[in-house]
Amino acid sequence: MSDTSTTPRRLVVSGAGSGIGRATADLAHDAGWSVVGLDLRPDGDARYPVLACDVGDEESVREAFAGVDRLWAGAAPDALVHCAGVYRFAPAVATGAADWDAVVGLNARGSLLVAAAAGRRMVAQGGGSVTLLSSIAAARGDAGEPSAAYSASKGAVEALTRQLAVEWGPDGVRCNAVAPGVIDTPMTTVSADPGAFAQVLGRIPARRLGTAAEVARVCLFLSSADASYVNGVVVAVDGGQGAA
Ligand SMILES: NC(=O)c1ccc[n+]([C@@H]2O[C@H](COP(=O)([O-])OP(=O)(O)OC[C@H]3O[C@@H](n4cnc5c(N)ncnc54)[C@H](O)[C@@H]3O)[C@@H](O)[C@H]2O)c1
Repeated sequence: MSDTSTTPRRLVVSGAGSGIGRATADLAHDAGWSVVGLDLRPDGDARYPVLACDVGDEESVREAFAGVDRLWAGAAPDALVHCAGVYRFAPAVATGAADWDAVVGLNARGSLLVAAAAGRRMVAQGGGSVTLLSSIAAARGDAGEPSAAYSASKGAVEALTRQLAVEWGPDGVRCNAVAPGVIDTPMTTVSADPGAFAQVLGRIPARRLGTAAEVARVCLFLSSADASYVNGVVVAVDGGQGAA
C-alpha cells in the first residue's frame, strides 16, 4: 500500500493558496500528512495552517520557515513541494530587464531560497524530498504564447533540481521536478480565447487540459517513500504534449 496514505509525515507546500499547490496540500492533508502551506496570499479557508511568505524574499522565507519550525516543534519537513511561481507572456524583444527580473527573480530565486530553507533542515534530519515545479516551457519554445523569461526561469529550475539532487543525495535528501503541460488553474489564460484554445488542444495528444489534481498526485508520489530511489529527474505531466 502507498506510503502516502499510511504514514503521516510533514509536508511544506508553497503556493498553497491556489491551483497545483492548493491541490497538493489538500490531497496530502486528506491522506493524513501534516501540512503547512506558504503563500503570498494565505487562504483563510484552508484546513491546515498557511503562512504568509514571499518566496522571492530571503528574509520572508527565513521568517516563514521559523514559523514552520514553531508549528512542528523544531521537527524538519519530510517533504517540500514548491509551487509558488508567476507566469507572464511577451515576445523576447518586448521583455525588458524589469520583466525578466520579475519572473526569473521569483521563479528561479524562489526555488533556491525555499528549497535551501527546507533542504538544510532535511540534511540535518538525515532525509527528505524536495519537489520543484518546472514547466513544459523549459524544454520547448512556444510561438503561440512566447514567454522567454518564464521559459528561462523554468530551465533554471531544472538545472537547480539536478544540482540539489547531487549535493544532497548523499544525505538522503532527494530533489526532483515536475514539468506540467497546460493545466486548468487560475495561472492559465489560454481558455479565454476560443481560437487559441482549440489550437492548444490540437497540440496535446490527450485533447484536454490537465487538472491541478493530476499534477498534485505526481508531486505527492515524489514526496513519498514510494519514490525512494527517484532522484534528480524531471517528470512530465502534460498529456503527451512533450512527445508530440
Ligand atoms: N498552470 C499551468 O498550466 C502550469 C504549467 C506549467 C507549470 N506550472 C507551474 O506550476 C506552479 C503552480 O502554478 P499554478 O498553475 O498552480 O498557479 P496559480 O497562479 O494557480 O498559483 C500560484 C500560487 O503561487 C502564489 N505566489 C505567487 N507569487 C508568490 C510569491 N512571491 N510568494 C509566495 N507565493 C506566491 C500565488 O499567490 C498562488 O497562490 C508554478 O510554478 C507554475 O509555473 C503551471
